[in-house]
Amino acid sequence: MSCYILGIETSCDETAASVVADGHKILSNCISSQIDIHQEFGGVVPELASRHHLEAINPMVELALSKAGLDFDQLDAVAVTYGPGLIGSLLIGIATATAISFTKHIPLIGINHLEGHLYAPHLEHPDIEYPAVGLIVSGGHTELIYITAHDRYELLGQTRDDAAGEAFDKVAKVMGLPYPGGPIINKLAGEGNPKAIPLPRWTIFKNGHPFDFSFSGLKTAVIYHLRKEPRTDPKDMAASFQQAAVSVLVKHAIKAARFKEVNTIILAGGVAANTALRESLTLEAEAREMKVYFPSPILCTDNAAMIAGFAYHKYIKSEFASLDLNAVANLRLKVTTQASSNR
Ligand code: KG4
Ligand code: ZN
Repeated sequence: MSCYILGIETSCDETAASVVADGHKILSNCISSQIDIHQEFGGVVPELASRHHLEAINPMVELALSKAGLDFDQLDAVAVTYGPGLIGSLLIGIATATAISFTKHIPLIGINHLEGHLYAPHLEHPDIEYPAVGLIVSGGHTELIYITAHDRYELLGQTRDDAAGEAFDKVAKVMGLPYPGGPIINKLAGEGNPKAIPLPRWTIFKNGHPFDFSFSGLKTAVIYHLRKEPRTDPKDMAASFQQAAVSVLVKHAIKAARFKEVNTIILAGGVAANTALRESLTLEAEAREMKVYFPSPILCTDNAAMIAGFAYHKYIKSEFASLDLNAVANLRLKVTTQASSNR
């Protein structure tokens, strides 16, 4: 008998619901994006996000169930993102999941959004083996992690300032491109010359944090360049910025895998949809006989399949949340050990 879990994700600007069977069979994956609403403001407006979630959540849940060919009574559990994210947005998902759990007498499972992202590649590759090095690159996070089991992590490195996706979005903004900038920069970069504009691309942090990232210097370099040369071809600017950002991400991921002596790298989060990052990491890893796993683009950006999928592993361990589950805006990954190295 299959185990059907309904997943709900409302941490930022996507209202998403999905039904996943046994942790990897995606029966439905429904996403209502708010990009149109936030685009005119150049970024996510939290108050507008919550209002849209409120309108979209019930239709998304109904759609996810009907596409899966199931009704509420056939669900084994309901899972929901409880952080990190925008507090008002998270609360809409939590209230919905809590109500379903209570009325249908099924367990409630609270999921950390970052664990959801890290789990996304497993939906299509259930055979991924640990230990592995994971790189989460999203709008709010840039984290390099050593993973020994589905829920055992060691933090190797993180951003000191902007997240990778945030850097893409901010650079796009200074270039006059609409939000979210990542996919547009990716597209423009494909037609530009990545060597056209020299940009800083390598930051070494001493003091035992060799895997940390910093993107604000790169962003500032783009701003200064555009001030000096306002007629720069946007394609060349996008290509040069993208290559600088990607090369740092790839170098750190490979270096971390070698340091931990693992042959598996997992790439996750919205920026994992970036074609240059996917290609470059695959190339560099294959040259060292390492294997890279990343999700299909639709599973890189925020979705509820990753939430329902990861929830299965909590379900089989009976790790359930109580009905007073609350939103935690700055929820972090529960790391087991802190990395320390001077390499
Ligand atoms: O994971 P996600 O959907 O939301 C967060 O949890 O933050 O990630 C969204 C981020 C945005 O910054 C967006 O610009 C970036 O992912 N992104 C991309 C691409 N697609 C989305 N960045 C670079 N290249 C892409 N193709
Ligand atoms: Zn996300």
